[in-house]
Amino acid sequence: MTTNPFTHRHLLGIQGLSPSEIGFLLDLSNGYVDQNRRADKKQSTLRGRTLINLFFENSTRTRTSFELAGKRLGADVINMQVSTSSVTKGETLIDTAVTLNAMHLDALVVRHPDSGAVKLLSEKVNCAVINGGDGCHEHPTQALLDALTIRRRKGRLSGLTVAICGDVLHSRVARSNIHLLNIMGARVRVVAPKTLVPAGIERLGVEVFFDMRAGLADCDIVMMLRLQNERMSGNFIPSIREYFHFFGLDYAKLAQARPDALIMHPGPMNRGFEIDSDVADDVERSVIREQVEMGVAVRMAVLDILTRPDREAV
Ligand code: NCD
Repeated sequence: MTTNPFTHRHLLGIQGLSPSEIGFLLDLSNGYVDQNRRADKKQSTLRGRTLINLFFENSTRTRTSFELAGKRLGADVINMQVSTSSVTKGETLIDTAVTLNAMHLDALVVRHPDSGAVKLLSEKVNCAVINGGDGCHEHPTQALLDALTIRRRKGRLSGLTVAICGDVLHSRVARSNIHLLNIMGARVRVVAPKTLVPAGIERLGVEVFFDMRAGLADCDIVMMLRLQNERMSGNFIPSIREYFHFFGLDYAKLAQARPDALIMHPGPMNRGFEIDSDVADDVERSVIREQVEMGVAVRMAVLDILTRPDREAV
């Protein structure tokens, strides 16, 4: 068996991981894809372990897939939504973390609307903390599942051209993907209107395009992002109609990409806003459902690796 190069206590982000750590997580995830396709999906790697999903924001796929991942590995899984917890009674983030910590958890998945909140919380607990998305900062398991989807389809990440399109400004998915794809040797473009591109994004190692056709030219992967209305204060786009005209993915714009280019979207999709419904459902080109499948496998790998007793955590 190959030695485990992943020695971190937590998974707070992709930034700072090495190519071998990412490669190891993807290899491990691959094995879990096969397990998840069998009739008996359950194993006992995490038997006796407790996982809590602590979500301060709505989520469908991330929370469900962490729950499934934990259960398939045999862990006890508890889901906490903010609306049903003491947080609505004024308990602080740290109090909540310290209270949960006293219950001897093994892993805590946290989603929070503020960038940096998950890291802060990780400093107050003894268990492994996994970032399930913090504000506009990072969403590491999404980038890992996207990478697994691409690698299984294209056989590699290195040398591919990936266009990340849409609301980059508010997207933790974009940030984690930019880090991961750069670490693994892909070429990354961001394609968006000026109002939705963060200042200085070039410093993360991307090429910026304000024109979608130019941005998609000859790319291998078209990764669409949701317009994150809940994070927008003010007007970032003139109208949905105009946004779709210039930046929505339809067949006309897709024709600029390579003929075998894959279409991705982290979900939830705003059909007709950032992506045409027919394009999203195109079984020849779209791997959106496959991304969801890969999500469970990646989360199993992350839970497995972070709760191994023989790890030398640093
Ligand atoms: C993403 C998120 O929450 O950051 N969704 C997800 O995890 N599947 C992207 C989004 O909400 O648009």
